[in-house]
Amino acid sequence: MTVKEILHVLKADNSEALFAQAREIRNSVFGNEVFQRGVVEFSNRCRKNCHYCGLRCCNGQVERYSLDADSILSAARCAIDAGLGTVVLQSGDDKSLDPGFIGKIVQSIKAYADVSVTLCLGDHDRDTYKYWRDCGADRYLLKMETFNSELHARLRPGQSVSERLARLETLCSLGYEAGSGLITGLPGMTPEILAEDLWRLSLLPLDMIAVGPFIPHPDTPLGRFWAGSLEETLRATSLVRIMNSKVNIPATSALDALVANGREQGLEAGANVVMPSVTPESVRSEYSIYPGKNSSVDSVLKNVVQMQRRLKIAGFHPSSTRGQSPLRTTKDKECTHA
Ligand code: 5AD
Ligand code: SF4
Repeated sequence: MTVKEILHVLKADNSEALFAQAREIRNSVFGNEVFQRGVVEFSNRCRKNCHYCGLRCCNGQVERYSLDADSILSAARCAIDAGLGTVVLQSGDDKSLDPGFIGKIVQSIKAYADVSVTLCLGDHDRDTYKYWRDCGADRYLLKMETFNSELHARLRPGQSVSERLARLETLCSLGYEAGSGLITGLPGMTPEILAEDLWRLSLLPLDMIAVGPFIPHPDTPLGRFWAGSLEETLRATSLVRIMNSKVNIPATSALDALVANGREQGLEAGANVVMPSVTPESVRSEYSIYPGKNSSVDSVLKNVVQMQRRLKIAGFHPSSTRGQSPLRTTKDKECTHA
């Protein structure tokens, strides 16, 4: 699709035909299987100051925490025992993070079970990414948020689109299954910018593409802006599916922050992955990227079982596989970007 065609779809009167087309493609590739990733948010420390995010370093309202190895591993084991085929280790962009600490955790998880391990730890140098890959990490998530240089630089001080793209290319060249994504409805983002973002995202050799709505956090500079639109986010999800039939697309938890059945609506619009938090309940609410994130106070197991129940009620099958994108086997995208 061209940027003009994408924009036309984003602005159309009706979404039903779009959602149905995306669903049909999702069903033809994945059936009614939904891949499950358990996310261990092990540290909320961050050196960055992104204007939209509650974990930004200037937010003094957050109680900062870092979990020890035992707590991380027991959360990971709980997710694996509940049938989740991927563990995601996520933190803010924590400058005190010891690469060796992460490396050992990755090795321990891989020794415990035949699962995929995804890292979502922000910006690090090539040697560190390579070391973690050598320790057995399979995937890395690094979201672009927006490709619009001006908006990116304004909302992510000190960071740039070109630098982010170069990191994604590094990750890809190291053999990671790379994931990226966008936030829809960021203050200053127009439908024209979103259309271009969706187009550029689809040119990249990604295994996972996430699209989530902006949720205003009161303790950030963007706290008084409107949230992103559910409708626009779902349309963007469908467009991603139509342009990238085999890619893994999560029904993001930010959708649930907009409406109670947000994730189900994401799956109905073409998504095929859920990423429940398996962060220990003692710190879960402190991973407060936006309000409503991690509002559940249930135990890790209860949280996962609750997600699986939701999937079944909506007619989906919670898959216990690693949930690798079929792109991996067909290799129909080269590892370079425009
Ligand atoms: N609304 C929605 N998503 C957000 N993120 C951070 N802040 C917000 C917000 N206010 C997402 C970004 C980031 C991830 C950690 O959380 O996509 O990559
Ligand atoms: Fe830190 Fe990520 Fe939040 Fe930016 S979006 S402040 S890098 S946790």
